[in-house]
Amino acid sequence: MRRLPFRRLAAVTAASTFLLMLVGAYTKAIGAGLACPDWPTCYGTWVPFLHPAVMAETPYSTLQVAAEWVHRTLAAGTGLLIAATAVAAWRRESLDRPEWAALGAGALLPVQVVLGGLTVTESLAPLIVTAHLGTAILIFAGVVAAAVGRRVPSQAAS
Ligand code: HEM
Repeated sequence: MRRLPFRRLAAVTAASTFLLMLVGAYTKAIGAGLACPDWPTCYGTWVPFLHPAVMAETPYSTLQVAAEWVHRTLAAGTGLLIAATAVAAWRRESLDRPEWAALGAGALLPVQVVLGGLTVTESLAPLIVTAHLGTAILIFAGVVAAAVGRRVPSQAAS
């Protein structure tokens, strides 16, 4: 299988991150931040919809559980893309602004995953939710810069 070129991979990652951020905002807007009350599983299972007893007992609507679950699941896929983009950047022949931007996004990924888990385990503590949003913005900026940022032309010897 042919490998996706770095810039194209970064563009796919940016699109996925954008979608993930929208789902996160939607999750918050419908009050579903704790619709999966545990982490990393949701009601002790990876797919709560497969367990009718779980869905019957949750105080949240199916839409709320789905929003939080989709956010987490999409985060897993997007996280892999962010990591792959950082690895692709590291493997390039030289590191310039777009590559460093991708590496920065990759470095922030574990921080964001921990913050995501803490939003749940700390019951949506305002500082943690704010840090989660701030880190999301930085990651998004990084992968966008990786996709479209200009490389600095090397100085011609005078
Ligand atoms: C790259 C990974 C992730 C990104 C970019 C991301 C991004 C976002 C964004 C932009 C929001 C909306 C914040 C707001 O409107 O203030 C959000 C909400 C949320 N995220 Fe994530 N997220 C990621 C991973 C995770 C993970 C792994 C979890 C684990 C549980 C998680 C849990 C949540 C929760 C519970 C909310 C709702 C917070 C609330 O109701 O106040 N996120 N996320």
